[in-house]
Amino acid sequence: MAEQAGDMDPVASEIEKLRQEIRYHNHRYYTLDDPEISDAEYDRLFRRLTELEAEHPELITPDSPTQKVGAGPRETFSQVRHRVPMLSLENSFNEHEIRDFDARVKRFLGDDSPVEYTVEPKIDGLAVELVYEKGSLTTASTRGDGLTGEDVTPNVKTILAVPLKLTHGKNAPQPPDLLEVRGEIYMELEAFQRLNRERLEKNLPPFANPRNGAAGSLRQLDPRITAKRPLNIFCYGIGSISSLPCATYYDLMILLQGWGLRVNRPHIRLCPTVHQVIDYCRDLEETRERFFYEIDGAVIKVNSLDLQARLGEKSRSPRWAMAYKFKPTQGTTTVTGIHVQVGRTGALTPVALLKPVELGGVLVRRATLHNQEEIDRKDIREGDLVVVQRAGDVIPEVVKVIKSKRTGAEKRFIMPATCPVCGSEVLKNGDEVVARCPNPDCPAQVRESFKHFVSKGAMNIQGLGDRIISQMLKKGLIGEEADLYHLGMDDLLKLDKIKEKSATNLLRAIENSKRTTLARFIYSLGIRHVGEFVAAILANHFGDMEKLEKATEEELTAIDGIGPRIAESIGAYFEDPHNRNRVRRLMQAGFEIETPSLPGTSPVKGKTFVITGSLASMKRAEAKELVIRNGGRVASSISRSTDYLVRGESPGSKLRRAAELGILVLNEDEFLKLLDMKTE
Ligand code: IVH
Repeated sequence: MAEQAGDMDPVASEIEKLRQEIRYHNHRYYTLDDPEISDAEYDRLFRRLTELEAEHPELITPDSPTQKVGAGPRETFSQVRHRVPMLSLENSFNEHEIRDFDARVKRFLGDDSPVEYTVEPKIDGLAVELVYEKGSLTTASTRGDGLTGEDVTPNVKTILAVPLKLTHGKNAPQPPDLLEVRGEIYMELEAFQRLNRERLEKNLPPFANPRNGAAGSLRQLDPRITAKRPLNIFCYGIGSISSLPCATYYDLMILLQGWGLRVNRPHIRLCPTVHQVIDYCRDLEETRERFFYEIDGAVIKVNSLDLQARLGEKSRSPRWAMAYKFKPTQGTTTVTGIHVQVGRTGALTPVALLKPVELGGVLVRRATLHNQEEIDRKDIREGDLVVVQRAGDVIPEVVKVIKSKRTGAEKRFIMPATCPVCGSEVLKNGDEVVARCPNPDCPAQVRESFKHFVSKGAMNIQGLGDRIISQMLKKGLIGEEADLYHLGMDDLLKLDKIKEKSATNLLRAIENSKRTTLARFIYSLGIRHVGEFVAAILANHFGDMEKLEKATEEELTAIDGIGPRIAESIGAYFEDPHNRNRVRRLMQAGFEIETPSLPGTSPVKGKTFVITGSLASMKRAEAKELVIRNGGRVASSISRSTDYLVRGESPGSKLRRAAELGILVLNEDEFLKLLDMKTE
């Protein structure tokens, strides 16, 4: 249906030209993450098309880019029968099962020729089928029972990464007349957390995980609700196709991308041997936390489409593919008790003591319960059987209680009115949900402060663990941080299980910690709301302790990255003579503090960075830290004062905004070079 713009009336022809242009820019923006025009220019095109369509409603077609968010609510979802059943995958859980799969494939094919595989992340979302007829999206459906799914066309149309009309580049063949594409709709972790925060604010129950968030958002009778949800898609397969212009799965993915569909190209790897398959599966499992979306495994596929056809399928799953499931990060266990932990700042946190359970390869014995409100909301009681979850670096959490297993012997928990360690009356500040022990001499607070002081990001005193600190405190060897620097061999030998050798090492480690940076020194003080980032910002700004101590709250809030909450906390800290004395005693212990005198030519110094998308060599938080340590600033959104946008993989809408403002965009390599971390 190649439109011949020349034969049409001028309005129809302008409409068609605008649609083609908008589709092209949608593709650059949403699929390739590489926009060519500014938001303003794009909006102008879009507005013009909307105007023309409003004047000539007879010219509106369902695949016009304006039809992305159109339809109102419906009564029910109608059913859609899949032309080719949507199968599921057989699972494997270890290396042996992957080898068995490889052996089975080869046995079935009955010859010794090598079989090449592809391996890619298994996205934890929900499967959909998109039907394109003559290049236009006509139907989108859920998997359902594999044979029949629900019609979610108006909802899927609102997803920005789903093209309503397929494109094709210069070298790509024309899309086939019928193309059924399968893929996974998902929600990125950050977007999921944001959505849940908004729901909590509106008193709506949060979604348990991004998959539920994605499913709940897609299955809305009113597609205008779906349109507001941050959904995305990765396409990973096909159903029916009228002609197949390639021979391998890998090339098929390249074709789909050429037609404007979003595929997970950078993470799909060709693996010519089963060893490489296993290595990459392992690699994905180890790095799963670096993804911006949840992946629960890897999918292994035979690359040759011809071999796929020969292998065919068993009842519900193809013989040519297999899922490798990562170790589960959720499990069921019993809450043996609820304990109240007192933190360094006096915050009282209820913690569930668990019957040990393995989650994602780690033995978990405790889960945070956050606060009384959270315990009440989830109705968690001592003795309950619960589902616990570990995600990324965060502390394990209780997802829900399995109430059907209650015996009646479970005990409700109520936060104590006094500190469980020192007995002081607990305080709760106005709008804060956190309960606090107000006693700065509370032994728990003192111990936690020491633990923080010696920790890796602070003074980094190796060998000074929890056990030794507790003993030193008990024996009265230390009372505040500076005392550590006056300890001698005799003192250390008074401790259990400490011999001369380990005492010497410990004394050396303590001595070495005196050579430090100002940022570390500030961080080690454990001022509330002053984490590593903030400490580095303060160090860069003030250059020495004295200036920081004297800074007023106005001066502090004037610093980029320091809000009133932080400023107030710093002010309160230094106002307390006890704290000023602590710092003075520490300084007198002979610290050699490196001031952050950066070479005036450092290209990062004084510059504002925005970082978007995932980086291959480090986490985003690490990148931020690097910028700050080098004297730069990091902002979360693009503005006229942004100097650089660092773009990782799958950057979001920030790229377009940066282009609009003419802000320099760096890729990861360029960013590393700027930081002088990459020389070639
Ligand atoms: S291929 C024949 N690739 O996992 C089935 N599936 O457990 C072909 N999934 O129903 C599916 N990421 O919803 C494939 N990269 C990926 C996937 C993926 C997630 C889902 C899909 C499927 C389920 C099977």
